[in-house]
Amino acid sequence: TFVVTENCIKCKYTDCVEVCPVDCFYEGPNFLVIHPDECIDCALCEPECPAEAIFSEDELPDDQKSFLELNAELAEVWPNITEKKDPPDDAEEWDGKSGKLEFLER
Ligand code: SF4
Ligand code: F3S
Repeated sequence: TFVVTENCIKCKYTDCVEVCPVDCFYEGPNFLVIHPDECIDCALCEPECPAEAIFSEDELPDDQKSFLELNAELAEVWPNITEKKDPPDDAEEWDGKSGKLEFLER
């Protein structure tokens, strides 16, 4: 499966959802996740993310491994998203910042 990681938080560009052939993205207030049981590993979303927040499960950086579990958990409770929308006004300021996990809204 592919996994959305920390740099999506507060950036949420949503370019990723447009290319997913199985519509397996789910949307929270300031973060998106991929449903691991629905993702078919096509890899189309990975290069679309301007924040480079999407990784294959096998290529997750060590400090992002907890996001595998987090994607699985939140994909069960958040609504599906299939259409791109405007990112937050301050998305660019947050792009690349570390320690964003504490700002995750559920
Ligand atoms: Fe969707 Fe493909 Fe990305 Fe999986 S790898 S989330 S199927 S676009
Ligand atoms: Fe997030 Fe990147 Fe998609 S910032 S919403 S994973 S395009």
